[in-house]
Amino acid sequence: MNLIFIGAPGSGKGTQAQILSKEFNIETLSTGDLLRKEVEIKSEIGLIAEDLMRQGKLVDDEIVIEMIKKKISSNNSIKGHIFDGFPRNINQAIMLEQMLTNLGKKIDKVINFDVSEEIIIKRISGRISCRECGSVYNKYYNPTAKEGVCDNCGSNDLYQRVDDNEETVKNRLEVFKKSSAPLIDFYAKKNLLVTIDAFKIVSLIFEDIKQALITT
Ligand code: AP5
Repeated sequence: MNLIFIGAPGSGKGTQAQILSKEFNIETLSTGDLLRKEVEIKSEIGLIAEDLMRQGKLVDDEIVIEMIKKKISSNNSIKGHIFDGFPRNINQAIMLEQMLTNLGKKIDKVINFDVSEEIIIKRISGRISCRECGSVYNKYYNPTAKEGVCDNCGSNDLYQRVDDNEETVKNRLEVFKKSSAPLIDFYAKKNLLVTIDAFKIVSLIFEDIKQALITT
């Protein structure tokens, strides 16, 4: 099963991908996470990506496509993938389709996370992530049981993303509207799109996604 999660920044794609990948035993490929790792290790890609990400701009298609290509061709035994935050524009979508076709695979469903800008800003401003295991929390909606300590791995290395500030979030929302929103129509025309009300609580959204995978 190959799924694509599209939605504005902070719409909850990563949160649902984490839960779904455990339940269905499929791998999540988040281009945002992959790029943040490159930035952390100060690789060549990381040095190019850092500034663009800080400004909320998209990293060049060639870079992200190459990263995804390496990942999906490296292990053919994996049952499927959740593409979280990729594709981000029509060019990336066409390239993904070609890569999967070459591997004898296809996209089964595209989940579109629909939520208002007001909620997005609140979610993003409260997001805290664990540098050790990647778990994501929210100081308003989903705080850690013990302040400053990751529930999952016990690390106290919790941080706020550098692109989670008001100015960058505005840019990220603009980029989403201009480059990524056309994907909604693109996948609707292919009969692959399911739009989920991403305003609900995490567990209910998860149920809606599971339902969408079974019924449509
Ligand atoms: P990326 O990391 O992909 O960021 P994004 O798409 O902006 O999405 P986010 O990670 O911000 O949000 P999310 O939807 O995953 O929400 P989450 O589950 O964390 O990309 C970052 C940058 O990398 C880009 O700006 C770009 O520069 C670059 N990049 C990435 N991919 C690229 C590509 N393909 N091409 C080019 N450049 C690329 O939830 C947010 C918060 O809300 C959390 O605190 C969470 O706990 C909380 N929350 C989640 N669900 C709920 C709920 N139902 N109720 C209440 N709170 C909730």
